[in-house]
Amino acid sequence: MTTASAAEPPISAGAQPLTGTQSYPEASAGALWGNGGEPAPDGAALGPTGRPLRAVPDPPPVERHGDALIVAMCNQKGGVGKTTSTINLGAALAEFGRRVLLVDLDPQGALSAGLGVAHHDLDLTVHNLLIGSKVSIEDVLMETRVENMDLLPSNIDLSAAEIQLVNEVGREQTLGRALGPVRDRYDYILIDCQPSLGLLTVNALACSDGVIIPMECEYFSLRGLALLNDTVEKVRDRLNPRLSLYGIVVTMFDARLLHSRQVMSRVVEVFGDLVYDTAISRTVRFPDASVAGEPITTWSPKSGGAEAYRAMAREVIHRSGR
Ligand SMILES: Nc1ncnc2c1ncn2[C@@H]1O[C@H](COP(=O)(O)OP(=O)(O)OP(=O)(O)O)[C@@H](O)[C@H]1O
Ligand SMILES: [Mg+2]
Repeated sequence: MTTASAAEPPISAGAQPLTGTQSYPEASAGALWGNGGEPAPDGAALGPTGRPLRAVPDPPPVERHGDALIVAMCNQKGGVGKTTSTINLGAALAEFGRRVLLVDLDPQGALSAGLGVAHHDLDLTVHNLLIGSKVSIEDVLMETRVENMDLLPSNIDLSAAEIQLVNEVGREQTLGRALGPVRDRYDYILIDCQPSLGLLTVNALACSDGVIIPMECEYFSLRGLALLNDTVEKVRDRLNPRLSLYGIVVTMFDARLLHSRQVMSRVVEVFGDLVYDTAISRTVRFPDASVAGEPITTWSPKSGGAEAYRAMAREVIHRSGR
């Protein structure tokens, strides 16, 4: 796999985004493609996407946990908000009573660091689960300070995995095999991918039910989406027929800037209802919360950023029906 190249064609309005969401379990196609909410009443206020805001109900409590939906948070472009979205969407889902497992699949360990874990000092990480040492997932699992949310941490050791896995049989399914034993315990497993489309990311896609693409609201971000779409389609055809594109969350949005509004309208034009109604605004509170080692939902619970990820969590729960 390669990363985006300069020769890559710009995404056009005619480009077909993945339409695999129909396989989404326990949800009607209407809910999926109707943006996950009730139809907007006449005269409803416009949301950041430029579409009328739809009311998404508060999620009902879950009676039974398990059979987790596995979601890869993926974009080969760096610094677009993958890790921030994984931490904060996870924390917001946990606030709604869902049991959540976050998987740090980036050797940088930013997800682990963002949750206050001293990852450099860890002996057991996701790396041990992938390279076939006789380590049980129980030994790697950590509780976070957020109730209902656990973590599989990583550190720089994981950078060796791409090479170590190359000669393994079924190398693309390694992460899926590792997660199998705990899937029954969680409602959502969110995988924070690294900014590349290499073997680790393919492992994430090969075991996921769906992909959420965090996209920085910036013109050049649009170009990489075609390549990512292509990769998701290839993995779906060759490795994982249940893989769907769940949605695109626009991050670092600034409604005051014409550029932001123009990029948003282009994304909505190309990807339609796959774009979440919720956009995440640009605010320094996200880096501040990471430094504090906490999700924004606990570090600054009443902030706009915390409310935005709660709104996104409502959409995710409503679309997935769990
Ligand atoms: N909505 C936002 N507003 C302002 N800053 C943000 C926002 N979201 C993320 N950031 C900051 O931008 C930087 C990159 O975010 P993040 O680490 O989540 O991106 P990433 O896609 O995971 O990056 P990488 O590709 O390196 O893994 C971080 O410093 C983060 O705190
Ligand atoms: Mg990251």
